Amino acid sequence: IPVDAFDLVIFGGTGDLARRKILPGLYRRYLAGQMPETSRIIGAARADLTEAAFRDTVREAIVEFVPAERQDKAAIDAFIGRIGYVSIDAKGTGGWTELKAMMRENVVRAFYFSVAPALFGDIAERLHQHGIADAWSRIVVEKPFGRDLASARALNGTLAKHFNEQQIYRIDHYLGKETVQNLMAVRFANILFEPLWKAEYIDHVQITVAETVGVEGRGAYYDKSGAMRDMVQNHLMQLLCLIAMEPPYHFDPDAVRDEKLKVIRALDAVRPEDIVRGQYLAGGGQGGYVEHSENPASKTESYVALKVHISNWRWKGTPFYLRTGKRLRARASEIAITFKEPPHSIFDDAEGWRENVLVIRLQPNEGMNLMMMIKEPGPGGMRLMQVPLDMAFADALGADAEDIPDAYERLIMDVIRGNQTLFMRGDEVEAAWAWADPIIQGWEERGQKPQGYDPGSSGPEDALMLMHRDGRRWREIKE
Ligand code: BG6
Repeated sequence: IPVDAFDLVIFGGTGDLARRKILPGLYRRYLAGQMPETSRIIGAARADLTEAAFRDTVREAIVEFVPAERQDKAAIDAFIGRIGYVSIDAKGTGGWTELKAMMRENVVRAFYFSVAPALFGDIAERLHQHGIADAWSRIVVEKPFGRDLASARALNGTLAKHFNEQQIYRIDHYLGKETVQNLMAVRFANILFEPLWKAEYIDHVQITVAETVGVEGRGAYYDKSGAMRDMVQNHLMQLLCLIAMEPPYHFDPDAVRDEKLKVIRALDAVRPEDIVRGQYLAGGGQGGYVEHSENPASKTESYVALKVHISNWRWKGTPFYLRTGKRLRARASEIAITFKEPPHSIFDDAEGWRENVLVIRLQPNEGMNLMMMIKEPGPGGMRLMQVPLDMAFADALGADAEDIPDAYERLIMDVIRGNQTLFMRGDEVEAAWAWADPIIQGWEERGQKPQGYDPGSSGPEDALMLMHRDGRRWREIKE
């Protein structure tokens, strides 16, 4: 569905995120015919570039980050023809009158703050001072949204001076991933799972986001953050919310976000013995975390595993195990929901029995897998075996994996449509920090150093123990 015509200003237009995700994503939406002919994209950054020079950088970004088969010379030219540039001083006066002169009437105005959060306030203020933003304008902000509750509150306060909540789009790009949205479709468009979706029938839930990359090249940011701030407080928290929330009354921004917020508020404090932190060691010809972060004394975690309890009627007694880390065995993200035993077994083959597990694979090979028990074929009596009911979304849809839109494409179009469902509300972000803060403070107070783990492994030994202690085990990390 085409969206309304828009002027999209990208502050930080020459930055890494704009080059890798935002601009290539917009090009793909253009190719998909979703961008009205009169829409425009304006790069805004400190660099003193001409429009032509900026257009060249956009062309390079498309060539680098869009698959070759989607690169069409004529389409790239036409797309680039809609791009403008303004050199702007976020903290000063330069460029703002020029920007105002570029904005048109009667189109959606969106401002993407792809810059350090320290500049959010300055930019917001100048947009108002110069009459560039109006009551219908939208702003898009990226993570990190604060580094603790106090800073997140301060940021919310800064933005609230100039924009109301309906104008603020806080991106968590995990919510733009197709399979993450599919979580809601699976739960609420099927009758099959929801009656069983509770502590009575679910033994435990595992959420894994495993990466093979390290922190090379972004060590300076990462070392001040760590896996807890970089991944758990936002991406894994969002996944947890979508699995655990009550059915919203409608697929509507506040209905969905109200339910997510209730989950975060129902999280118990995590006990120190239920958390394992890890840091990858050198190996395989590559440096370890301390080399990549250029901080030999670093106590920052590149891996974290934790057991989380939700104190509400639905989930009391069902643990959620979360883990995420860098330089692990494979890039594999999944959610696995393990069901309980049937109340009584009529078969003698107790050894053959395994739990039902519903696995939702987020990436790669997006799909679903339901592990079920059947009779082992053959005349050998009633022996049981576990088989997967396996569905790769690409096969089921007859789609090419390349056709699945990138998270950013979907989210930017939602901004233009004015749909906030897949964006975080201010209170949600604050509640997630209120939960994460004491965990991080505890580490800092204890001066705890993370446990080393080998690159290409499944993480630190203690993480295995976290599960073992409870008589459970992690699923294997594999593509
Ligand atoms: C980002 C984190 O938000 O998400 C990165 O800052 C991480 O550290 C990335 O690598 C993972 O995103 P994706 O889409 O590759 O799973």
